[in-house]
Amino acid sequence: QGAPREAASPFPFAELPAGSDERHHVAAGHDAEILIRWGDPVLPGAPAFDPRNQTPEAQARQFGYNNDFIGYFPLPGAADPAAHGLLVVNHEYTNEELMFPGLGRQDGKAAFAGMSQDLVDIEMAAHGGSVIEVKRVDGRWQVVPDSRYARRITATTPMTLTGPASGSDRLRTKADPEGRQVLGMINNCAGGTTPWGTWLTCEENINYYFGGKLAADSPEARNHKRLGMPGNLYAWGKYHERFDLGAEPNEPNRFGWVVEIDPFDPASVPKKRTAMGRFKHEGAAGILAADGRYVVFQGDDERFDYVYRFVTEAKVDLQDRSANRDILDRGTLFVARFDADGRGAWLPLVHGQGPLTPENGFRDQADVLVETRRAADLLGATKMDRPEDVEANPKTGKVYVMLTNNSKRKADQVDAANPRPDNRFGHIVELSPDGRDYAAPGFAWEVLVRCGDPAIAAVGATFSSATTRDGWFGMPDNCSVDGQGRLWVATDGNSAGRTGRTDGIWAMETEGPGRGTGKHFFQVPTGAEMCGPYFTPDDTTFFVAVQHPGEADEEDPKAEPATFERPATRWPDFDPNLPPRPAVVAITRRGGGRVGT
Ligand code: FEO
Ligand code: CA
Ligand code: CA
Ligand code: CA
Repeated sequence: QGAPREAASPFPFAELPAGSDERHHVAAGHDAEILIRWGDPVLPGAPAFDPRNQTPEAQARQFGYNNDFIGYFPLPGAADPAAHGLLVVNHEYTNEELMFPGLGRQDGKAAFAGMSQDLVDIEMAAHGGSVIEVKRVDGRWQVVPDSRYARRITATTPMTLTGPASGSDRLRTKADPEGRQVLGMINNCAGGTTPWGTWLTCEENINYYFGGKLAADSPEARNHKRLGMPGNLYAWGKYHERFDLGAEPNEPNRFGWVVEIDPFDPASVPKKRTAMGRFKHEGAAGILAADGRYVVFQGDDERFDYVYRFVTEAKVDLQDRSANRDILDRGTLFVARFDADGRGAWLPLVHGQGPLTPENGFRDQADVLVETRRAADLLGATKMDRPEDVEANPKTGKVYVMLTNNSKRKADQVDAANPRPDNRFGHIVELSPDGRDYAAPGFAWEVLVRCGDPAIAAVGATFSSATTRDGWFGMPDNCSVDGQGRLWVATDGNSAGRTGRTDGIWAMETEGPGRGTGKHFFQVPTGAEMCGPYFTPDDTTFFVAVQHPGEADEEDPKAEPATFERPATRWPDFDPNLPPRPAVVAITRRGGGRVGT
């Protein structure tokens, strides 16, 4: 019975056994090589990585920490567009206990006791993003040194706030009385690439960086509470007043946006596109609607938060790049409602419509955008199990929503789109936009798969029966649709202690008799999370990001706390003098051809 179905599989590669060890693994017939690691040079003059002698200045020229989203842009005029291009990479956050000697997490929540101004400034330089030029020479990818495109963006890079919230009194601070300029981007998780050649990079858990005490009578109290502010995970507010809520109550309103960056112009000023809303943006993956407008899908990664969509007012001009320069400043933001009958609706977040009025505290569209979550609450959007990546499949017209987990959902809080209480392993929802139009107001939807181990009945997983013991996964997070319309899922939260396997990449069948079949393709080293999956235009290279290798396994009672001195792995260098390093990996098929065939 298995043979004919296997023959028809869109994923004919030999499945990788699932497990957990200190190394990375890829399915047979593929190579998975390290391209760039934390501390490697990005800008000219970057010093060699020296983890016992780190400085903010060195870090600002080197590859940052915790690589997350990856985007690839072929260089115009390249002989082979799939072998020479720009790679853009998010640096989401920092792990002090693994980066710096002598530090250990205090209790996983409080700001680090051992931090100093210098260490904080190194962290700020390790955040943000990198632009690197990459080239495939004799089959192997390498970073082009001293490229004129090379760029580091950090938590102090000057940026412009654009769109309807720009200049709002709620964005004004002592350093920026106009409310239009901000320093840096933080916690950039996933993102997207636009057809006009720009990088969308998304600020997610911004609350962690803020400390201090908001004045009791502050008008921002409700707003900040809704975003978990102050999160107090980092010591930045101790050394930089703007991260102290008592001193600068509006600074948080300048974070939590989608940032658009032109990777082809290293002098360009990044723009925070306020029209796309303010929340814990996981990603911003876009696609052209039937009429040429641009539609960007976005998840707000929090338990019981929402799935969003932004639709531009103007049509994308594919002939004239500059015509799209500020296209993301005008358009409509929508939030999703999933109905029990398998239908869904996109609800517009427009000032003056429905409950988004002055009586409810929204004076204008700027207020709606600064408090996107509260506006969506009032519209009756569906509270989801932590929406992460949302990606369209241009081959089928469908859209996939990764819902990573929600252990706080109670039995009396389940709904059709979030059907499991104590949802520890997450699920994937598939949207079918009406008329195959991504800008349509309505859609049909169904659950593609409930994740987790199908062998444990109580988990209630719904992978197809063709899924092997290696092929199931928990906690879908990022995803990618390749040029053939095949879905690939990256996970966050699998570990030896939790699921008997580390995170990685699983192929996921969405069509035909194999629908719901998972297949294991790539495995990260212990402690790491899988991020960034991105294909070159011809599917010959699959770039993936290994984030926080060596972190302790929270679910394993026997696991030691992981530190710089005693990490859970020293991947990828395996040098006893070096800590583990987040790194980008390039996966190619041995002998050439499309990855995963
Ligand atoms: Fe940064 Fe939702 O993961
Ligand atoms: Ca992440
Ligand atoms: Ca993640
Ligand atoms: Ca995640």
